[in-house]
Order: sequence, then structure tokens, then C-alpha cells
Amino acid sequence: MTDIIKAVKKDIEDEHAAIIQYLYHAYASPDEELRGKLESIARDEMRHFKWLSEWLVKSGHKPTLKRSEVISRGDLKSLIEADVKAEEEAIRQYIYHKTLTDDDELLTLFDRIIADEKSHWEEFFKILDELNAIPPGAEPLENQKPEESTSELTESQAAILQQALEHEYTSILQYLYHHFTINSGEELEDFAIDEMKHMGWFAETLAEKGFQPELIHSAMESEAGPEQSVKSDLAREIDAIEKYSSAKDKFEDEEIRDLLDLAINHEKYHAESLKKMIEKYEKLSGKRFTIGSLRKETEK
Ligand SMILES: [Fe+2]
Ligand SMILES: [Fe+2]
Ligand SMILES: [Fe+2]
Ligand SMILES: [Fe+2]
Repeated sequence: MTDIIKAVKKDIEDEHAAIIQYLYHAYASPDEELRGKLESIARDEMRHFKWLSEWLVKSGHKPTLKRSEVISRGDLKSLIEADVKAEEEAIRQYIYHKTLTDDDELLTLFDRIIADEKSHWEEFFKILDELNAIPPGAEPLENQKPEESTSELTESQAAILQQALEHEYTSILQYLYHHFTINSGEELEDFAIDEMKHMGWFAETLAEKGFQPELIHSAMESEAGPEQSVKSDLAREIDAIEKYSSAKDKFEDEEIRDLLDLAINHEKYHAESLKKMIEKYEKLSGKRFTIGSLRKETEK
């Protein structure tokens, strides 16, 4: 593997870590405006992750779903300090990686990303300044409970939401991987964005109710061909629909029930679109599939 390929892989793993680190910090923030800012920076990192992965695949290499270290715990100020450092590191690394290539497309991409990281650095720095400006003796931001935390969650309800979050995180990665490796237009990428929203709902609900969301994912199936990949995506959607439907009965909180309903509706839409994709593949290969045969195939 050439140096530049290794370098881009490292960049992708760092971008993946940045997405997750900023989401963690967003969920740890009791302030809605700050949460929005952090989530929007995480979305920028997702674009970087995607552009670099697309470049890697175009250059004939497999995408990577590995992730570098993430700083997820600490008081809000120390978290934002870590974010300022992460951006400084990223800027330094991209400037260095520019010296390893003369690929014009990649150089342009690096420049675009460096510009973004600089603006992130400034934003984090401003946030840190504001946190430092809170007068001594005032209630620190992270001790202020968000207003909406009225009803409580039981341990077993929190476990259900944590499991749903893990399912969503795995789906995000799986859809992105399949988006990079299967030529399917924008659809799978759109699904990844939907799943990112779902993950955010579950994580925010956990954080609001005083639980620490864990951004971890399950094992992924990434080496299958296009048809098998889409089938395993469909099996995951059907699984989510079933799990979320039975989870709904375990909650009385109307807001959580509404979130689950909305997620179920999105997953149904994903499932329908995937079925159409599979039908197209089946037409090409002259086979037929049923949900029963699909289950058997993916359980193998
Ligand atoms: Fe980035
Ligand atoms: Fe950044
Ligand atoms: Fe989802
Ligand atoms: Fe879905």
C-alpha cells in the first residue's frame, strides 16, 4: 500500500472518530443551541468521511470502517478542549498529507477539508471562550438539567433505547459501506442519513433522562456482493421494524412512542425501497425471492 493510501485511510478513521466524538459531546450538552452547533460540525465530518471514502474506492481500494480513539467522557469544558485539539491535529495532518500526493482531485479535496477544519477550530474556540466566561459561583452548564426531563426512564427502558441506538449506528456504517461499494445512486446514502437521525433521537432521549448513551456498533457484514448486501440491509430493516414495534408497548412517554413510530415509518420506507432494488437484481439474474427465503439466506 502506498503512503498516500495509508494516509487517506488514517484520515477516514479520524473523520469517523470526529463524527462520533462530536455527537457524544452534543448529547452531553444540556444547551440546545450548543447541541445544534456540535451536531452540525459532526455532519461536516460525515461529509469529509464520505468524500475521502469515495476517493479511496475510485482509486481501487476498499473503504475502511475502522475508527480512531474517541474522547467521550469528562466535563463539558474538557470535552470542548479536546475538540479544539482534535481540529488542530486534523489541520496539521491534512497539511502533511498534501505533501504525499500530486493527485489534483485529492489535493482540492484536502484544501476544502482544511478550510472546514479551520472554521470548526474557530467555532470550538469560541464555545470554549463562552464556557470560560461563566462567572465563578454560577451553576456550570453541565449541571443544568434540560427542562424537558419530566418522566423517568427505568433501567430496562434505557436498555431498549441503547439497543436501538446500536442498531442504528450499525445501520449507518453498513449503508455507508454499501453506498461506497455498490453503485446504487444516492439512495443508500440517504438511508444512512435517516439512521443517523434515529441514532440521535435515541441518544438524546437517553442523555435527557440522565443516562449515558454509548455510541457502539455491532459486527458488520461488509464483504458480500451487491445483491447479498442489499438483502442483509433489508433483513436489518425488518428486524428494526419488529423490535421498535414491540418496544413501543414498553413506553408510556408519548414523545418516545412518537419517536419510535416515526422511526418505524422510516424503516418501512427503507424496506420497501430495498425490496425494489432486490427485485431489480433478481430480474437480472432470473431468480425470485420471498421474505421467508431471505430470512433463511441471511441466517446462514
Ligand atoms: Fe473533518
Ligand atoms: Fe473538523
Ligand atoms: Fe433507523
Ligand atoms: Fe432504516
